[in-house]
Amino acid sequence: MTDLPQRFRIKSFGCQMNVYDGERMAELLESSGMRAAGPADDADLVVLNTCHIREKAAEKAYSDVGRLTREDGTRPLVALAGCVAQAEGPEAKRRSKAIDMVVGPQAYHRLPDMIAQVARGERPVDTNMPAISKFDALPARRRVGPSAFLTVQEGCDKFCTYCVVPYTRGAEISRPFDDVVAEAQGLVDGGAREITLLGQNVNAFEGGLDKLIRAIAKIDGLERIRYTTSHPADMSDALIAAHGEVDKLMPYLHLPVQSGSDRILKAMNRSHTAESYLRTLDKVRAARPDIAISGDFIVGFPGESDEDFTDTLAIVDAVGYASAYSFKYSPRPGTPAATMEGAVEAHVMDERLQRLQSRLAEHSLAFNRATIGKDLKILIDRKGRLPGQMIGKSPWLQSVFVDTDAAIGDMVDVTVTHALPNSLGGVLRDARVAA
Ligand code: 5AD
Ligand code: SF4
Repeated sequence: MTDLPQRFRIKSFGCQMNVYDGERMAELLESSGMRAAGPADDADLVVLNTCHIREKAAEKAYSDVGRLTREDGTRPLVALAGCVAQAEGPEAKRRSKAIDMVVGPQAYHRLPDMIAQVARGERPVDTNMPAISKFDALPARRRVGPSAFLTVQEGCDKFCTYCVVPYTRGAEISRPFDDVVAEAQGLVDGGAREITLLGQNVNAFEGGLDKLIRAIAKIDGLERIRYTTSHPADMSDALIAAHGEVDKLMPYLHLPVQSGSDRILKAMNRSHTAESYLRTLDKVRAARPDIAISGDFIVGFPGESDEDFTDTLAIVDAVGYASAYSFKYSPRPGTPAATMEGAVEAHVMDERLQRLQSRLAEHSLAFNRATIGKDLKILIDRKGRLPGQMIGKSPWLQSVFVDTDAAIGDMVDVTVTHALPNSLGGVLRDARVAA
């Protein structure tokens, strides 16, 4: 029998869905009487909300668990959560004695029960993927920042051959339309001015993502809507039309392509070609000419030749990405690509990643430079490092640094004065007028 924990800390890794899940777990633990440990506090419950997307994810999680033991040999209660928890299941308890409970992404609502079980001397594991949604069992949203995440869909049926998501997050499942709208209203009531709709395949949302966007755009006080991540195959005409018609929908689209080579795309089971991807973007740009496109890339997929890689650089140039994430291929056990022939040598992968990233940086810089001299609205979301400096997001999701006494959550008008690959500098428009 141990005491019930009082102060918890949740550490989220990986994607925005984990950030969202972390917030919901925090709300749940608070509503069951615990409080969040401050930065300097010693927590007596630590939830490691893990990511499994790349190599050595499990090893990293176990070493993070190991580091939670204090100098005097004591340690907090430890919950292994997230995608590593889902993938490892009961095995996690065998591999680390310091793990008290294992909770998969569809079982978070059971955390308070599991904590009580731990206090009774048990080591519960729940990695079930029940059809009934955890969301119904979570408390309503409360305090939120100016920019909030909202999960509308989870899981993936696409089975790209490199990806663990269909195994760790399960089949595609969408939340009921009205539940999502109600949660959006709750977030706005709690102070959110921007909502980012989340899903591993958010544009496969069953009720129609376009309809959902139009419905939440009616909420007074909500000013910005975004969504991520989308699959090219689910970019419907109705969703594209929404980009041209819904003012609150921000001009930014994260649409991963992964490779510019049709041969590799086929081996990845991506269900689009370079050409069909570009045609989709043509339609998006016809609807919203100023849209910023962002993407994900994998270099060194098994069998990737120099020519395939050149095709990837070509699609980067054809699209002119405003921002992008790029990764070296990492074999994930249990996925079809893990047993494919034609592994790319490490030094080749390194070199390709470097070339790709410098090309992507050129495009981001060009995109950012094109905003110099423009007036835009930024939503302040954090403090800068310098005194008086604040950082906000532009409609195109650029981070903009500005000196202002505006507070987090304020929307301010700035004129962009300079551009780097990953950020912009600006001055307050009023300040410029006054000067
Ligand atoms: N190796 C490298 N990158 C991967 N991603 C997903 N699985 C892998 C893998 N096995 C990348 C993809 C995806 C992003 C979230 O992570 O680019 O879009
Ligand atoms: Fe993974 Fe492909 Fe599904 Fe994205 S679409 S989560 S990359 S399987």
